[in-house]
Amino acid sequence: MINKNQISKIYQEKLKKIKKFNKAYFDMDKPLISDHEFDELKRELIELEKTHPFLKLNTSINNMVGSKPSTKFEKVKHSKQMLSLGNAFNKEDMIDFKKKIKNFLNTSSEIELSSEPKIDGISASLRYEDGKLIYGLSRGDGIFGENITENLLTISEIPKKIISAPKVIEIRGEVYIGKKDFHSIKDKFANPRNAAGGSLRQKDSNETKKIPLKFFAYGVGEIRPQIFKTQKNLLEKLKLWGFVTNTHCKIVKSIQEIESNHSEIENIRSGLDYDVDGIVYKVNDFNFQKRLGSTSHSPRWAIAYKFSSVKASSKIKEIIIQVGRTGAITPVAKIDPVTVGGVVVSNATLHNEDEINRKDIRVGDVVNIQRAGDVIPQVLSVNISKRTKSSKKFIFPKKCLCGFPTKKEISSTTKKTDAVRRCIRGYDCNFTAKEKLKHIVSKDAFDIEGLGKKVIDNFWDLNLIRSPADIFKLNFDKIENLDGWGKLSIQNLKNAINKSKNISLNRFVYSIGIRHIGQENAKILGAFFKTDKKFSELFENKKRKNILKNLYDLDGIGDTQIRSIDDFFSKPKNSSIIKSLMSVLNIENFKKIYKEGELSNKNIMFTGGFEKMSRSEAKALAEEHGAKILGTVSKKLNYLVVGNSKPTKKKIDKAKELKINLLNEDKWYELLNR
Ligand code: IVH
Repeated sequence: MINKNQISKIYQEKLKKIKKFNKAYFDMDKPLISDHEFDELKRELIELEKTHPFLKLNTSINNMVGSKPSTKFEKVKHSKQMLSLGNAFNKEDMIDFKKKIKNFLNTSSEIELSSEPKIDGISASLRYEDGKLIYGLSRGDGIFGENITENLLTISEIPKKIISAPKVIEIRGEVYIGKKDFHSIKDKFANPRNAAGGSLRQKDSNETKKIPLKFFAYGVGEIRPQIFKTQKNLLEKLKLWGFVTNTHCKIVKSIQEIESNHSEIENIRSGLDYDVDGIVYKVNDFNFQKRLGSTSHSPRWAIAYKFSSVKASSKIKEIIIQVGRTGAITPVAKIDPVTVGGVVVSNATLHNEDEINRKDIRVGDVVNIQRAGDVIPQVLSVNISKRTKSSKKFIFPKKCLCGFPTKKEISSTTKKTDAVRRCIRGYDCNFTAKEKLKHIVSKDAFDIEGLGKKVIDNFWDLNLIRSPADIFKLNFDKIENLDGWGKLSIQNLKNAINKSKNISLNRFVYSIGIRHIGQENAKILGAFFKTDKKFSELFENKKRKNILKNLYDLDGIGDTQIRSIDDFFSKPKNSSIIKSLMSVLNIENFKKIYKEGELSNKNIMFTGGFEKMSRSEAKALAEEHGAKILGTVSKKLNYLVVGNSKPTKKKIDKAKELKINLLNEDKWYELLNR
């Protein structure tokens, strides 16, 4: 019998081959072998993965072939971004979702939600102008999609024409393969979702045609004029236009209805002809949806309530620690590989030191593992009855992987000791530094395609990238000699790096990874500093102290953020690293596209609660009308809007003293012309 090593070798050789063929096919449009031979090789690899699950732990063929964004389709900007959804995993998450919506809309009445099965397929956006299908796009990165019209046209459930439609309407929905249809091609793909994705990205639509794809319509992108009042309205109309909408959609309100609906769909799930991985709940009223708006990634008016996760049991072989980009030490359990919901799991997170102590998790323990959606598998509980006598309590390492002691901080607000242990050496710790680099190149930061986590690990080990500026001074001659790199991939990487040199100030601020400065805060800071020159004043101790004082004026920036910024820039190593990075970049000045509004160039502050809207909505509205929101009363303030419910007297007094315009709720609406 051949052993694991030999199997692994055979697998790696085949993998290498398919990577080469795949690249030739997708990147260069020059197939080196026939489709049949390619399919055969892919089938062999999948068969190997299926019979030897340990192989998948490295690189699964299904994650690779054809899934890489290919250059062969034209990229088209979505006229309205295709956002993704936040997740809920239990009743509490749903209660929280409902509460947030009610708070935002400042209402105590129950909000109607449209409940729709979440189809596990590939989303697409279809643009109709004057009722005619103009083009169809894949989601891509949500901002740019790929023009896959030809392939979408092979789907009989997509109407080519719709009657009495608005002038422009983009219909969004999910492309999928029925479970029965998948059965006949199951040797070629790991699951129906991969099959749908692969089929949609075929360069020849005759190939797509061979696989019966289907389409569920569930939403709209751009629409002119808006003719719908509710999501329910929209779904009804979509059906009249000839789209297929899911028959299990309904309106729900209370948390009880949400829960019973959830179990109902979960019960019938296995009998449906398509994969469903949860339920999407959307605020039914489009007016409310508009008011709620979205955060950078997902709408506030919708959520995906995932089905209960899949659980399994396995043994902890070892507990290791990982270091994150903020120096956070995360313990990870290395477990005997176990299949959880179709995926082989060999690592599970233990969260932090407190969690290990609380659950008394030890090496050698048999534990219950849970995997929910795309989140990292976690250890739920220990099966104490299976513990051996010789088992010893796990002593959490007090040192980072770099060898230096770690610390548990005391929160300045709650005065409690943090549950997380951290290495506080920042860029001085090689392990933290490497993670910081991974953050810098990530999608929401510099977004450098081709510089993924694995490549950073590899380039770090080879001493090619050790600090952010190194990314922009890469020695490509060296890379050319590395395994897996060819002329084309190097050219692509060069282009991606060059492109990323032009970066907006907010993105840059987010990228450098100051703790507590996420995308939203980075935007606020970008608007404050406006230019990289002004931002550079943070490097100078004296100037920094002054700037930090002014930051208190910004709504959303508080003590925690200001301390963190100070802490970051007071470390000479950080300053020198960021300075070198800035010297190779072209940082674009902040430009906020103010909508033409009554409040352009006006500074506003809110105090107290309002009757007709929440403070969050009031702020969002003010910004939409071009205003800037301040956090403290100063001479710069143009209006202090005072709500009836518990306004701060100190703020009102100070505003009066400075002769600032005070507005009550009614006057505030007048200002907005509402
Ligand atoms: S609405 C902004 N409705 O789930 C909201 N999505 O992460 C856009 N999906 O990318 C999505 N069924 O591919 C919506 N009934 C449904 C859905 C659905 C499946 C997918 C879609 C989206 C992902 C959310």
